[in-house]
Amino acid sequence: ALPEKVKIVEVGPRDGLQNEKSIVPTEAKIHLIDMLSESGLQVIEATSFVSPKWVPQMADQVEVMKGIQRKPGVTYPVLTPNLKGFQAAVKAGASEVAIFGAASELFSKKNINCSVDESLQRFDEVMRAAKEAAVPVRGYVSCVAGCPYEGKVAPEKVAHVAKRLYAMGCYEISLGDTIGVGTPGSMVDMLEAVTREVPVSALAVHCHDTYGQALANILVALQMGISVVDSSVAGLGGCPYAQGASGNVATEDVVYMLHGLGIQTGVDLTKLMDAGAFICRTLSRKSSSKVAQATCKL
Ligand code: HMG
Ligand code: MG
Repeated sequence: ALPEKVKIVEVGPRDGLQNEKSIVPTEAKIHLIDMLSESGLQVIEATSFVSPKWVPQMADQVEVMKGIQRKPGVTYPVLTPNLKGFQAAVKAGASEVAIFGAASELFSKKNINCSVDESLQRFDEVMRAAKEAAVPVRGYVSCVAGCPYEGKVAPEKVAHVAKRLYAMGCYEISLGDTIGVGTPGSMVDMLEAVTREVPVSALAVHCHDTYGQALANILVALQMGISVVDSSVAGLGGCPYAQGASGNVATEDVVYMLHGLGIQTGVDLTKLMDAGAFICRTLSRKSSSKVAQATCKL
C-alpha cells in the first residue's frame, strides 16, 4: 500500500546550489525560495551554516535567511554541522535545523572533517542546545547506498547511525544516497535494516540521480511505508565532497510521479516549474527535470 500523502522536502536552495562553481547572487537565491514557497511546498531547506572556507556558495546564509518571505505553514530548515553553526542559525532566525552525519568514515572525514563517532558527539551538543531553544532537528545520514571513497556501505552501518541520531532526538532521519548508486534492490536491503531500528514514520529518503535510479528507489521506499521525500527543483545539485555525484532527483519529476499515483503533495506543479525555469535561466543551465524538459518540447 502506498501513502495517501507525501511530504516533499525541497533541498534545491541548499543541496542544489552548494556545489555551483560561480557564486549565485543572494537576490536570486531569495527569489528562488520565495517562488518555491508559492508552489505549495511545506518544507524548503534554505541554506547551510557551514564554514565559508569549505562551502563558499553558502557564505551568504544570514542574508538569505533575512531576505526570504516566510510563508505561514512553510518551514525553512538549515544545515548546522556544529554548535557554532547552530548558534549562528538561530541568531539569523532559523526555526529548524539539520545535522548531517554519514554511514561511511572516509566521507565523514572529507565532508565535516571528523570521524563518525566525533560527529555524533558534536551533534549531541547541537541537540542539547536545540532542545533548550525548542528548535526541531532533522538528521541526515549520507552514503546510505555507497560511498565515493569506501565503495559499498553495509546496511547495518546505516542503521547504526540512523538509530543514534533518532535516539538523540532528531524528529526525522533522512537517508541520503549521496552519490546516487543505490538500486531498488539495495534500497530495500538498507531500508529493512534501518526500519528495524527507527520507526518508518520518522524516515525520509534523499536520492541523488547520478545513475538514473532515484524515482525507482523512491517508489520502493513508498511501498515500504516511507512518506517523506527530499528532492531538488530542476534536479540541481551535488555534494562538493562527493565528486561526480549529480543532483538530487528533480522535485518536478517526483511530484509528477506522486500525482500520477494519486498521492497528494499539496504542490502546484506549474508554479514549481516556474521556479525551476527561473533558477535554470539564472544559472544558464538546462533543467535536469525530465518533466520540465518534456513540457518545454510540447
Ligand atoms: P573544521 O575546519 O574541522 O572546523 O571544519 P574547526 O572547528 O576546526 O574550525 C575551523 C574554522 O572554521 C574556524 O575559522 C571556525 O571558526 C570556522 P578560522 O578560525 O579558521 O577563521 N567554523 C565555522 N564557520 C562558519 N560556520 C560554522 C563553522 N564551524 C567552524 N558552522 C566544519 C568543520 C564542519 C565546520 C567544516 O568541515 C564544514 O563546514 N563542512 C561542511 C561541509 C558541507 O557543507 N557539505 C555539504 C553538505 S552535506 C551534503 O550535501 C549531504 C546531504 O545532502 C545528504 C546526502 O546527499 O547524503 C545533506
Ligand atoms: Mg544531498
